[in-house]
Amino acid sequence: MSETINHINKGETGASSHTTIVATLKETFAELYGTIPLIVQSPGRVNIIGEHTDYNEGFVLPAAIDKAAYVAVSLRDDTAIHLTALDLHENFTTSIEDLRPIGDISWPNYMLGAAAQFAKKNIALKGFNAVLMSNIPIGAGLSSSAAVECAMVFALNELLQAGVEKMEMVKMAQKAEHEYATVMCGIMDQFASMMGKENHVIKLDCRSLTYEYVPFNMEGIKILLLNTNVKHSLASSEYNTRRNECAQAVKWVKEHVADVHSLRHVTEAMLDAYVLPKDALIDKRARFVVQEINRLEQACANLRQGDIQALGVNMFATHDGLSQMYGVSCKELDWLVDAVRNDEQVLGSRMMGGGFGGCTINLVKEDYIDELVVRIAPAYQAAMGLPLTHYVATIQKGTAIIE
Ligand code: GLA
Repeated sequence: MSETINHINKGETGASSHTTIVATLKETFAELYGTIPLIVQSPGRVNIIGEHTDYNEGFVLPAAIDKAAYVAVSLRDDTAIHLTALDLHENFTTSIEDLRPIGDISWPNYMLGAAAQFAKKNIALKGFNAVLMSNIPIGAGLSSSAAVECAMVFALNELLQAGVEKMEMVKMAQKAEHEYATVMCGIMDQFASMMGKENHVIKLDCRSLTYEYVPFNMEGIKILLLNTNVKHSLASSEYNTRRNECAQAVKWVKEHVADVHSLRHVTEAMLDAYVLPKDALIDKRARFVVQEINRLEQACANLRQGDIQALGVNMFATHDGLSQMYGVSCKELDWLVDAVRNDEQVLGSRMMGGGFGGCTINLVKEDYIDELVVRIAPAYQAAMGLPLTHYVATIQKGTAIIE
């Protein structure tokens, strides 16, 4: 395996539009390999509510958005794997005989991890060329890595004619993250990226993996993402710690209630009786999850009734729980939520995703977005010493072949 990452002089490709990305991928592929690739697009995601519930067998309410990772892929006649990340001007070469995670948690791992899942399923893998581009901001909590994993699994499934079903591909993409990026993530990100549907959020039961598309049509209201620009560097170690804390709570409850297998089955009364007396911190972590699973049910009812006001109140409650009970927020995320908490034009706001940085998700009256950003961006910069970036997200379809 070549551990050297060479720099490719392709000029600045930056965060481009869909059309530019597709054209650039085609052009680059022709230059590098002289062939026409399969191009697959897989989106980033937002999550309306239901945070840190997926690995506790609860519910989540995510949606795919209009920012995506794109891979252009073709099979080779030999066993080599040639990868290029065009935005980063980097490439990486290995072979199917030498598939293993590479040292740093970086982009080749997402692609190699995806390829490795086929070998693990005894599906004959072939050498391949792949060029990656993305306009999902990295480290913003919008699941840029899940998008790459899904795009890669989807593309290889197509090219190898492996016939793997979509839900199985979701699980393969999740395993790529576990095994090659060593984050023991739940299933939400890969699921949302693969299964997204235009103008719908998805209520996913992470225990049974059954799901339902819920229309997300809010007249005059948009999803505004405010990026703290804090890279969530603590996220992977703390994430795995939270998983273990939840597992410990389940273990203590299970000593008394045998049929409990996850926090999905746990009530606050059980926590009072079996967890709180043992460890106040573990109790706080588990109690957040139990409350969040219930809060998601309320939020879905709010959405169906068109009661965005009530949905917003639930989002603020989720933020407070993530910050004060689950311990996965940071001062920048708290600042952004507090900055809009009493603003009547902002219906709901909370940190989103794993935590420790990334974006807040806000439901904001459309006409007010520019004014809001102009008001809080300088104040955020002054208070936190970081720039504030923002994106208005629309809800789009999941992983798909472009051509
Ligand atoms: C990350 C993980 C998801 C989920 C969220 C928190 O995005 O990848 O599986 O656990 O954090 O809800």
